[in-house]
Amino acid sequence: MAIRTDLIDGDRARSTLTPGHPVLELLGPGVSLAVARSNGADPTYAIAVPTAAGWSVELSAPPAGPDRAELAASAVHRAVDAVTLGRPGVSVHCWVSDHGPEIEHAVRAGLSDIPLVRERHLLQLRVPLPLSSSVTRGVTDIAVDTLRPGTTDEEDWVAVNAAAFAWHPEEANRTIDDLHSRMAQPWFDGDGLLVHRDPSGSIDAFNWTVPRLDADPPMGEIYVIGVHPDAHGRGLGRALTVAGLRHLHRRHRLEVGMLWAESDNEPARRLYASLGFTEHHRRTALVLGER
Ligand SMILES: CC(C)(COP(=O)(O)OP(=O)(O)OC[C@H]1O[C@@H](n2cnc3c(N)ncnc32)[C@H](O)[C@@H]1OP(=O)(O)O)[C@@H](O)C(=O)NCCC(=O)NCCS
Repeated sequence: MAIRTDLIDGDRARSTLTPGHPVLELLGPGVSLAVARSNGADPTYAIAVPTAAGWSVELSAPPAGPDRAELAASAVHRAVDAVTLGRPGVSVHCWVSDHGPEIEHAVRAGLSDIPLVRERHLLQLRVPLPLSSSVTRGVTDIAVDTLRPGTTDEEDWVAVNAAAFAWHPEEANRTIDDLHSRMAQPWFDGDGLLVHRDPSGSIDAFNWTVPRLDADPPMGEIYVIGVHPDAHGRGLGRALTVAGLRHLHRRHRLEVGMLWAESDNEPARRLYASLGFTEHHRRTALVLGER
């Protein structure tokens, strides 16, 4: 079996991929794409995307085909090499679990020359909607507004998001441009970007919900929720979570609430567990150390 693995930059990759390709929306400045092919197999892609913590490597593999696992391992290794060689101290989060155990095993084996610092687990949690009255009883009564595009709300959102997620590898340094590009997506629902305001009118907490109507089953996602650390522990997170799920159920008739949470995010996990969320499945990343 001969595998050829090429490395191409994000801009060139954009012009070579077909519209709708799963890695297209990850492409941007500074992104590298490793493409692995062997005779008769659809190409496999590993994409290295810069994050606040270093790099995130994601894999896109065809659902079947010869040499599937070897191609995946080769593409991931090449992408990791591209962002680590000659750059000591760089952190890489390598997502390995999305394509089944055979590929996960091959990718892990292919990276065995690089020290593994830890595993990171991202849990998909789900809850049936509407929430039962037993879990919503006693929730703090707050005034919920929506973000007003084109106003200082946008800077407020970036600031609260940065403060709430200062520890988070991908979320910590979202910019106004990130906000705008998400607001331009077809899935954006302005009525579902809920905010709470402090007495001065500035945003101090938000719950950005997204109806995933094409998902199977259709689901209402809590896309990102954050409370400014100065306002933690006052019931805002719980009240906004409940308000967001209510919006998704009432407006979009969704019967499943969904979100992603880090396995070690204790405050968030306790909040979601108390509302009835349970783990549906998880994604695993290998956090790689210096060679
Ligand atoms: C998770 C978060 C939204 C909670 O917001 P909050 O306003 O501080 O939470 P609340 O005051 O409404 O508390 C709700 C529940 O969360 C849990 N919780 C909150 N802070 C906690 C802490 N420090 N330790 C453990 N559990 C905690 C408790 O279960 C609490 O219920 P209780 O008060 O009945 O015990 C907030 O901590 C936050 O913004 N974190 C950073 C961003 C983030 O992690 N977002 C979620 C990503 S999935």
